[in-house]
Amino acid sequence: MSTALEPADIEAATAVLRSGMLRAAGRCEELETRLGTMTGARHMMTCANGTCALQLAYEPLLSPGDEVLVPAWSYIATVSMVVARGCVPVFVDARPDTLQIDPADAARKITPRTRGIAATHLYGTPVDIDAVESLARSAGLKVVYDAAQAHLATYKGVGLGAFGDAVTYSFYATKNLGTGEGGAISCNQETLARAIRLLRSHGETDKYLHESVGYNYRMNDITGAIGCSKLDRLSEQTRRRQHNADRYAGMLASINERVFGSAGTGLTPAAITPGATSAYHLYTVLLDPAVVRCSRDEFCKALGAEGVPTAVHYPRALPRQPALSRWNREDCPVADSLSARVLCLPMHHALTDSHFALMAEAIEKVARAMRE
Ligand SMILES: Cc1ncc(COP(=O)(O)O)c(C=O)c1O
Repeated sequence: MSTALEPADIEAATAVLRSGMLRAAGRCEELETRLGTMTGARHMMTCANGTCALQLAYEPLLSPGDEVLVPAWSYIATVSMVVARGCVPVFVDARPDTLQIDPADAARKITPRTRGIAATHLYGTPVDIDAVESLARSAGLKVVYDAAQAHLATYKGVGLGAFGDAVTYSFYATKNLGTGEGGAISCNQETLARAIRLLRSHGETDKYLHESVGYNYRMNDITGAIGCSKLDRLSEQTRRRQHNADRYAGMLASINERVFGSAGTGLTPAAITPGATSAYHLYTVLLDPAVVRCSRDEFCKALGAEGVPTAVHYPRALPRQPALSRWNREDCPVADSLSARVLCLPMHHALTDSHFALMAEAIEKVARAMRE
């Protein structure tokens, strides 16, 4: 679905262009203050994108050579920036129900060299934060949560910014808060916030005075203005995504019952971590090929022919990526199994009754055809 800008977003960006103040300034600061408040974080720092955000979070918290527990089931940036820091990624399997990092597997993989855990709130759904935090406390680990897909999700009624050492966000065009490119890091510790701000902008403490070596990972005010304008609508849009997810759950339950009956559950929505609310960046479903009697790819192709686009997040587990395979220990069977079973149905705040009617009809038709 379209992630087109609304007139207010264009006006906000145009006002910055008219002002001539193109660098990071008031609109970036406003985005930081407002998103910080909305996510329950004391410090929010905007930056160029979600990958930079991870790099800016990892660098002050982790040292080269540290072992870091990472999800085998995520987008590559969560892990590739651990590698960029010179750390050793140790893959942790996914839970088969929520598809989020499995804290029990993480506990099994702790060694005397483990220093951190990077956990992605994948698809917009928070991980089991209580379990991650208690593991981190007992093993003395730093915790970075990748919330690139999870703006405004909550855990036990609290914004995600309250948890862990740092939380990172992406504002890539397709994200729930999409500015084109963009990102942010939040934390609750003054000294860490200062370190991240310095790293973001060449360690500069005064004009041409550089206290430490850093990068230029700054945002700009055009992006900041688009972010602020879209933020006005994000709470309502997130509620609509949650409502749409409820509709999907009801639709799939009745299709499972009518089409598969006692054969089992052919299409299972990814479960939500107890106590969490998801931001539903994606609506992810697990297909059981034995029940549906076709492969995930055949099912998606047939749905596409009926006018329902699907996406696969992701077609392979991270230890199977050529870039990361040297750290593959063949010990993440759930993540491996997901790559052939997940599919994402269209998710957007603006889905209408007619979209749902079309999808219900198409999914049921394809499911029946596969069983014949
Ligand atoms: C889970 C996750 N982490 C990190 C990123 C990286 O963000 P960006 O594309 O803004 O660099 C993404 C973006 O796709 C993501 O989905």
